Amino acid sequence: MQDAKAEAADMLDRIAGALDAALRVRDGYTHSHCGRVVTLALALGRAAGLSRAGLGLLGTCARFHDIGKIGIPDEILRKPGRLSRAEYERIKSHSRIGASIIGRVDAPDMDECARIILHHHEHFDGNGYPEGLAGGEIPLCSRIITLADTYDALTSRRSYRDSMSAEGALGIMRGEVGRQFDPRIAERFFRMLGG
Ligand SMILES: [Fe+2]
Repeated sequence: MQDAKAEAADMLDRIAGALDAALRVRDGYTHSHCGRVVTLALALGRAAGLSRAGLGLLGTCARFHDIGKIGIPDEILRKPGRLSRAEYERIKSHSRIGASIIGRVDAPDMDECARIILHHHEHFDGNGYPEGLAGGEIPLCSRIITLADTYDALTSRRSYRDSMSAEGALGIMRGEVGRQFDPRIAERFFRMLGG
């Protein structure tokens, strides 16, 4: 029994390694962004008191939260300028694409992981996507990833804009408490980063 469990964990590890490599080859920025989001999300998850198992799930979901971007054409994914409405709608489909990729991995917790990835762009006030979930309807791990994701997106340098300072990013994020972000988790995040 133990052997079967260890074997399944090992197999999942190898599948995760292959997906990780696919993302790195397809889009280096998204891959490194996901890596930084893992670190931040896990620190926040620890501060929020998640269990060891909860942190394991959170780490996997953070690592693959943007895996669906492999399904977005380069001319949109790497567009240096402003996206048109249609292009933005196409980008938004990455959460569904990611959930469908991860949902196909036949391993424990991967259905839950797919659900967390599906909802990583929901907003606490219900104005996010893809389903417009609000408050506690949004999985806790998705609410954690949203904070880490936004912070990294704001503070990393892109071809079309310079990176923002930590203070600048935290300032913008404070304005989104109760809108995009869960106030309880956001407070822990700000405390964690000293903002
Ligand atoms: Fe995303």
